[in-house]
This record gives sequence, structure tokens and C-alpha cells, in this order.
Amino acid sequence: MLEIEIKKAAEYIRLSCHTVAFTGAGISVESGIPPFRGEGGLWNTYDPGILDLDTYLRAPEQAWPAIRNLFYDFFGAAQPNEAHYILAEMERLALVKEIITQNIDNLHQKAGSKKVYEFHGRLNYFVCPKCQTYYKLEDIEITQDPPKCLSESCSAVLKPDFIFFGEGIPEQAYKNSMWAARNADVLLIIGTSGEIMPASSIPIMAKQKGCKIIEINPNKTNYTSTITDAFIQAKASEGLSKLVQEIKAIQL
Ligand code: APR
Repeated sequence: MLEIEIKKAAEYIRLSCHTVAFTGAGISVESGIPPFRGEGGLWNTYDPGILDLDTYLRAPEQAWPAIRNLFYDFFGAAQPNEAHYILAEMERLALVKEIITQNIDNLHQKAGSKKVYEFHGRLNYFVCPKCQTYYKLEDIEITQDPPKCLSESCSAVLKPDFIFFGEGIPEQAYKNSMWAARNADVLLIIGTSGEIMPASSIPIMAKQKGCKIIEINPNKTNYTSTITDAFIQAKASEGLSKLVQEIKAIQL
């Protein structure tokens, strides 16, 4: 069964003019970052309320220790795994044009991918909600209290430049992602439960435009029995490795 799905997926990509990857937390699981939902999910350990925008802006010192522990101490130490490197190689081989990622861990970029649209923002920047000044993570001190804006006339508490619950999608990332999904003829979905809007509507929109949908996930999702054309039931690194092997075999 798996081999048949891999052959189908490889043929879709071989015939494709514009393949786009759409990734979620599952692609970073083999880097040591648990998914948000399901077995061992982060939201079983951490309260999603730490990412409530109003709470953070009203009393940042309350949520900051948990945010720092989860996203900077834990996520920040992670390194790309084989799946991230394979996607970067597929971009170099022109097999994948862009990546739309829901992840904020910067692991696609660390693995060498160039065209990455961060639909939920990014871990390695902070922004001042008051004066809109941006700061690189390495340029500010975050080990103690929530970091503050360095502008003389401001000194407001900074916010990580990824979206909190209740916050809109970054405008440029949204535009780039919608363009990519509209122009894709193959969408390669890797490691997402497809439960969070508006990101989860991207594959559905692509399907409505006639896009072939490939899904790599050890578990079935909302997409599998509705829009998926080739379901590779495997972990991200195993599925991508077998997919690229098959693509190279049929291209010979
Ligand atoms: N390889 C591939 N997929 C995996 C692996 C793996 N090794 N391990 C788990 N998965 C799959 C799970 O089966 C699940 O379908 O990854 C998916 C992870 O789902 P979620 O935890 O819901 O993550 P995601 O879909 O990215 O969540 C979307 O929710 O909390 C918000 O902003 C957060 O970006 C996140 C969004």
C-alpha cells in the first residue's frame, strides 16, 4: 500500500510545474519538538492560554516564564532533522518551489530552504506592539523579564514575532502563501493535523483549484479521506526519503 502511494506521489511531482510544500509541527517532531495535539502534545503540558494576546499585553510578566521555557529554551535548541534537509534539497532540485509553514521554529531556513512563508510568524524576531520596531532574537536579553523596547521614547514590553491566539496572520506571509497555493499544481502536506484555521483551509483551496494533494503523516487527518490523492502513512523523514528516491528512480 505504502509503495503504491509513494509511486503515485512521485509521478504527480515528476509531472508538476509548481509543487508547494505545506508543513506543520509534525515535520519538527524528529528534531525533538513534540506536536501540539495528539499523543505527547504540547497543549497537554502547557496551557494554550499563555499565547492569549490580550493576557500577554495586559500582564506579560505572568505568561513570559512559560513562553520563554517553551519557545526559546526548548524550541530554540532544536536542530533541523532529515526531513527539513530533504525539503531543502528538493528546492535545490526544483522539485519544490516554496514552503508554506505553520511552524515558527526556523528549522526550514536552518536546513537551507530559501523560499519559506511563515504563516504563523517567526521565533527569531521580537516586535514592539507600541512603536512597531523589530528586534532580532540575538540582539536582546530574554533570560529574565519580558524584553523591553530599546527606543528611548518607548520602552514598551516586546512581543515575540509569532502570532498569539486572537492575532491576525502576518500580511506578507498570508499574501505569499495564498499566491503559492493558488498557483500550485501539487501540494505536499507534511505533518499537520489540519485543525487550525485559516492555515487549514490552504489545502482545501488548492484542491478546489485542481491541485493534486500528497500527504505525509503517520496518522490519518481531516484531509486524508476528503482531499488527499496520495497518502504516505509515515514519519516525515521516512516518507520524504522514500518519495525522493522514487522521483530520482523514475527520472532516470
Ligand atoms: N512526521 C510527520 N508527522 C507527524 C510526526 C512525524 N514524525 N509526528 C506527528 N505527526 C503529525 C501528527 O499526526 C499530527 O497530524 O503531525 C501533526 C501535528 O499536528 P498539530 O500538533 O495539530 O500541529 P499543527 O497541525 O502544525 O498545528 C497547527 O496549531 O497550536 C497551533 O500555531 C500552532 O502552528 C500550530 C497550529
